[in-house]
Parts: sequence; structure tokens; C-alpha cells
Amino acid sequence: MINIAILGYGTVGSGVVEVLSTNKDSINKKAGQEINLKYVLDLRDFPGTPIEDIITHDYNEILNDESVHIVAEVMGGIEPAYSFTKAALLKGKSVVTSNKELVAKYGPELLAIAKEKSVNYLFEASVGGGIPIIRPLNQSLTADEIYEITGILNGTTNFVLTKMDKEGRDFDEVLKEAQALGYAEKNPEADIEGRDACRKIAILSSLAFDMHVDFEDIYTEGITKITKKDMAYAKAANKDIKLLATSKKIGNKVYARVAPVMLDDEHPLSHVNGVFNAIFVKGNVIGEIMFYGHGAGKLPTASAIVADVVDAVKHLSKNLMTFWSTKKMELMSIDDVPVSMFILAKTDFYSAAKDSAKKLFGPIKVVEVIESEEEFAFITDVKTEKEIANLIKLYNAEPSIRKIISSIRVEA
Ligand code: HSE
Repeated sequence: MINIAILGYGTVGSGVVEVLSTNKDSINKKAGQEINLKYVLDLRDFPGTPIEDIITHDYNEILNDESVHIVAEVMGGIEPAYSFTKAALLKGKSVVTSNKELVAKYGPELLAIAKEKSVNYLFEASVGGGIPIIRPLNQSLTADEIYEITGILNGTTNFVLTKMDKEGRDFDEVLKEAQALGYAEKNPEADIEGRDACRKIAILSSLAFDMHVDFEDIYTEGITKITKKDMAYAKAANKDIKLLATSKKIGNKVYARVAPVMLDDEHPLSHVNGVFNAIFVKGNVIGEIMFYGHGAGKLPTASAIVADVVDAVKHLSKNLMTFWSTKKMELMSIDDVPVSMFILAKTDFYSAAKDSAKKLFGPIKVVEVIESEEEFAFITDVKTEKEIANLIKLYNAEPSIRKIISSIRVEA
């Protein structure tokens, strides 16, 4: 029998308890021994629930209990999760987590301690909820040189964009629904401003490129400016708007970006709707591969946590090597990244607006929706971000243009 403890009885923590109880027999069989939940740490009491007798408010009780070998940290946030995790690893306990903030910031340091102590720090649940992606990058795809990872890594924003698109609804209204369903973070800004996806692509890029990609270096833009009108234009161009988290190798440089993107409706990621997440990976041997599933929610995330617990049980005193160097990666400047852009302008002079666009941007593809005489929309050729930004400034100053109301990156 092996004792474990859960830190935090919130959405994910209660999901872990539920999964351990629902699939008790098969989980124990796969772990090779019985997994016994000895403690749940939380500030609150939970009278009348299955965990009322194992609740503790004192972390030291878990830390100093030598019979506890695995800790599931599902508290979220940096502190006290960081101190608790570090202390557990230093005591020779393995830690599994869904905490992407902590993994993105302190991953290399915590992995080094785990290695030193011959235990494990596992974080499958930190990216893509229930979708296996950390283990594939660490194990199944080691024959490949990965040169691109593009993901829909945030369930809340994908849910919001899908509803806006399919039901023609407003951003604020749909966001409230996502919060009520428990998909959004406590502070939904982390979702809608792209910060949650940014941490997740930082983790994936660090694993794929075996250097530390600092999330603070990643260009990040959220979905708050996306409107129903943008959705209509995207549809007219046979595209879908998705919040994409990307890291890509160009020559020997890597760029990383989180931003809403108009994606061709032939692209596999354009069919990923609702709260689903997907991660599209390109490797030089395997080619293209996509991982798809529930990227948020109580049970899918708990499924990944429990699978990591099982792995930790199977490798109790053996560190599973994780490729994440402490060496920081210098990312390519966003200014130099090649991109094509959808641009929507208000105008009183449609043909003059079109002529100016051609004059400034060169070849363009006009996008039309019905009754668009007061608006002119087009997609540019590929140029660098910096060139496009300069041209947008010039276009905005053209006499035929009242105002540029949208600019959204476009991916083939
Ligand atoms: N708020 C996150 C999401 C939860 O919507 O994807 C999973 O990290």
C-alpha cells in the first residue's frame, strides 16, 4: 500500500478524490499496489463528505509523515504551492501537479531537485487538462526533432469563441456561461488575455526544444477585442478564429506567440470546438500529429493527475528523465516573425480604400460580407510583423480610411 496526500480540495482536488474512488480497482491494479489517500490539505472543513476524517489544515503533518510518498499539488498559484512542492521533493516525496503557473516559472528548478532526490515531479495535468502531451513529448516523440507546436490550449477561450461563432452571441455573455460551467480560472483575465495559454506553450516549448522558454518573453494577446463582426468576416473567408499558442523553429531560431488567429477551415485545429483543446505537433520524422481532448474541467484534469500518481507509484525511487534544460532560450523578436494579416477598415470611399490597400500592401485578397459598403476588409501577403505594423499605421492615415477596426493574424 502506498500513501498519498492531496493539497487543495477545490475543483481538481475533489475530482482526484472522485476518480480514485470510481476507478479504485483498476487504478490499484495498474499501479501494482493499493493507493491510499491519507490526507487532504485545505483551509476549510468538509463535514459530511468522504474526506472529512482525513482533512488536515497543517501541511507539516503531511511533510513529516514518512509513510506519505506522493503529494498531488492541485492548489494553483505560486505560493504556497512552490514552498510546499519544494519541501516535499527535498523530503524525498514525489509531487504531481496541475499547476501550470508553478511549472512554467519553477519547472527546471523543481525537476532538478526531483532528480537529485531520485523522485519525480510530474505535470501532465498542467497542459491540456486530460490530454496526454507532456508524456508524449518526453517519451513517445524522442526520435523526432520537433519544429512546431501549435495548440488550442485554453478551454474557456475556445468555448467563448465557438459560441460567438456558432450562435452569433456576444463575448461577455458567453464568458459568464464558461465561468458558471467551471472552465474559467478564478480570475478569467488569465484566460481571456491569453496568460493561461502562454504558460502552457512555455512549458511545451521548453520540453520540445530542451531549453528554458521564459513565459514572460512570449508575445501574448488575448481575445477581448474579437467581435461578432470579425467572426462574420472570418466565415466569409472560409476561416475560423482561434486563440492559438504557437512555437516554431525558423532556421536555428524559435519564436513563440499567443494570439487570436484566423485559421483556414481545412486546418485540423479549426475543427476543435467548445471546451476541447488540441495540440498539433510537427516533427522531422513523424510528420504531423495531433492530440485532442478535454482541456479543462474537474474529471479530465483529475484523470491526468491520477495517471501521474500511478506513474509515480511505478517509479517510486527512480527519477524519470525530463528534458528541460535550465539554459534560457533567446526567442526571436516578434517584429521579425513572418505573418499575413486580416485588416478591416471603416471607410466612406470603398474603391479608394481598396486602391490604397493595394498601393501600400501589394497583393491583397479582398474579403466581403453582405452590405459592406462602409467597410473594406482584406488579407495581406506574408510580411514581417514590423512591416505589417508600419503599413497599418500608414493605411490608417490614408484620407479614404475613417478607422481601422480590426487586425487579426491569418494562418493558412
Ligand atoms: N482555465 C483553464 C482553461 C483551465 O480554460 O483551459 C485549464 O487549465
